[in-house]
Amino acid sequence: MKRRIGILTSGGDCPGLNATIRGVAKACYERMGDDVEIVGVVDGYHGLIYGEYHEMKPADFSGILTRGGTILGTSRTPYKQMQVIGEDNVDKVANMKANYKKMKLDCLLTLGGNGTHKTANLLSQEGLNVIGLPKTIDNDIWGTDFTFGFHTAVDIGTEVLDRIHTTASSHKRVMVVEIMGNKVGWLTLYTGVAGGADIIVLPEIPYDIEKIAKAVERRGKAGKGFSVIAVAEGAMDEQEAKMKKKERARQRAQTGVTTATARIARELAELTGYDTRVVLPGHILRGGSPSAYDRVLATQFGVYAAKLVELERYGVTVALSGNAITCNPLCDVAGKAKPVPLDNPLLKVARAMGIAFGG
Ligand code: F6P
Repeated sequence: MKRRIGILTSGGDCPGLNATIRGVAKACYERMGDDVEIVGVVDGYHGLIYGEYHEMKPADFSGILTRGGTILGTSRTPYKQMQVIGEDNVDKVANMKANYKKMKLDCLLTLGGNGTHKTANLLSQEGLNVIGLPKTIDNDIWGTDFTFGFHTAVDIGTEVLDRIHTTASSHKRVMVVEIMGNKVGWLTLYTGVAGGADIIVLPEIPYDIEKIAKAVERRGKAGKGFSVIAVAEGAMDEQEAKMKKKERARQRAQTGVTTATARIARELAELTGYDTRVVLPGHILRGGSPSAYDRVLATQFGVYAAKLVELERYGVTVALSGNAITCNPLCDVAGKAKPVPLDNPLLKVARAMGIAFGG
């Protein structure tokens, strides 16, 4: 039986997208031979909405295991906008369904994070055959232990902290390093532990600046005249944690210091007198070739997705549970967050090492 599979990558890119695409394609060709046709949808849901896609050949999937980014292109089409008819008068959901039909797809594979999964679930509920694959450096997708892209970002972040250590100790400075993760702190926690951060600040543990300052001063008294602090992009202090997102943003805009990282650095300099610097690795954490771990995970996910396609098992997203690759219903995954639990074992390990969390 012929199968026509659409693939798209949506949301922020990350290392391992191409490795996953390759895993899906090679395993599909192995399992179904000439009976499989693959269509690449360009720039995520944008391509599905506006009918931008191209037929792919086996050669397109060779040589991409190590390549960063995505060969299909990506874009952010916020879920909230999906059911809203915009100025261009386009009914996005209707268009996606029509283009799925026009492409003569038997199923659609969506590689993405939380937003992508919400739209994937919507399409599944609209009757399309959808399989999700969990990507993001944030590792915040419900139901999977790890997403692909996460471990590569941990490796890159660790290298940043290693390099920051040498300059921090030479100058006896406090270095405040912002790690991506606007909602959850997985990346900051793993990077902080791997990179030997002295203080780790996570969105899940609202901070008290006095506690962070005390931790820096404690190190000073112990003869360590420098500190490396890993701060998650989405960190907030105890007062901010009581506010709604918009109120928090408004207050930050009024003070002119829009990020927790900048605020922590400024307040620490005032409280401790240490020369303090902010470091922003930013999108570097998402760039370049996937790590060995992510190449393996992406390949495992891709091969599993190919099996789901052959079995016509749709409406699910692939997941890692312990050492097993499995899947969860899309409707269970969509719209759920996966914050770092306060009893997370690595969090306990970090505390046992004397790493301060500021809260
Ligand atoms: O979702 C992944 C992520 O890298 C977040 O950690 C970060 O907050 C966001 O994407 C940045 O988005 P953009 O690439 O659109 O600036």
